[in-house]
Amino acid sequence: MQELEPSWPGDPRRELAAGLAQPAAQIAPKFFYDRLGSALFAAICQLEEYYPTRTERAVLADCRDELATLAGTRRTLIDLGAGDCVKAERLFALLQPRRYVALDISADFLAASLARLRREHPGLLVNGYGCDFTSSWELPDEVPRAERMFLYPGSSIGNFAPDEARRFLEGLRANGEDDGQLLIGVDLVKDPATLVAAYDDELGVTAAFNRNLLLHVNRLLGCDFALGDWRHVALFDPVQSRIEMHLEALRPVTVSWNGGERQFRAGERIHTENSYKYREDDFVQLLALAGWRSVRCWTDPRRWFAVMFARAA
Ligand SMILES: C[S@@+](CC[C@H](N)C(=O)[O-])C[C@H]1O[C@@H](n2cnc3c(N)ncnc32)[C@H](O)[C@@H]1O
Repeated sequence: MQELEPSWPGDPRRELAAGLAQPAAQIAPKFFYDRLGSALFAAICQLEEYYPTRTERAVLADCRDELATLAGTRRTLIDLGAGDCVKAERLFALLQPRRYVALDISADFLAASLARLRREHPGLLVNGYGCDFTSSWELPDEVPRAERMFLYPGSSIGNFAPDEARRFLEGLRANGEDDGQLLIGVDLVKDPATLVAAYDDELGVTAAFNRNLLLHVNRLLGCDFALGDWRHVALFDPVQSRIEMHLEALRPVTVSWNGGERQFRAGERIHTENSYKYREDDFVQLLALAGWRSVRCWTDPRRWFAVMFARAA
């Protein structure tokens, strides 16, 4: 893994072409995050309908004393999918990290976030790395293995299907010594109208975030999606307990790239995101299956969002 380089890690063309060739076309949610996509996500976090960010913040504010006692201070704080780094930054006063390590696939955006952070916290050791959690990754040797705390806020874990989430959490467990810790945000099952509104806001910011993926894919794959051909769709699947986001063709569309082409019928969709919603007990069990111990769970009064702390041993 390299310190931040202003590029997308690896060569995603094969993965993108394979996803578009599927009978039910799909593009992984990691492709939302070019520089503009990351900025749009930061805007989503400010929307009235997008309850996860402010609810997670409120839960963390309420549990801060207990968290401080459980977690201690002076750890290496490893922020998974750091984005604008604001969530980790809010924990600096409480956790007083020895070192802050930010990981994100959106390397350009992370570089800008870290430049700000370094200015505002000149005494803190800061490292940033561009990486893709959906391929194999390991922290470089310069990041001490002892006393790691992994921070995975925002319910990003929901982008993985539950069995993938378990494997990801097992991988984190293996990425530290027995003194490793995890602090993770988990979005909980609630009424479908609230869930869908959070992914289909009135202002259309989430629609822009979803459709911007096509511009990013045009650049990565060299293809020719036209924004006007596609509309944003968000729905809740109660059987799978997940929000799904799709892009739906408004008319017959042919998309071409070097070495391939895909035809879409009007109404045909590209699946761009799953966001699994958990019951508290189910996620506690998932953590246990992944090898995490001593799980402590805090939620808000409506039980909309959970923050969980766990130990590697
Ligand atoms: C939902 S946002 C959360 C951002 C921030 N942590 C928060 O909670 O507000 C997901 C973040 O993870 C990053 N990300 C998404 N998929 C990734 C992947 N496969 N590997 C590494 N980072 C990824 C995105 O660039 C984005 O910054």
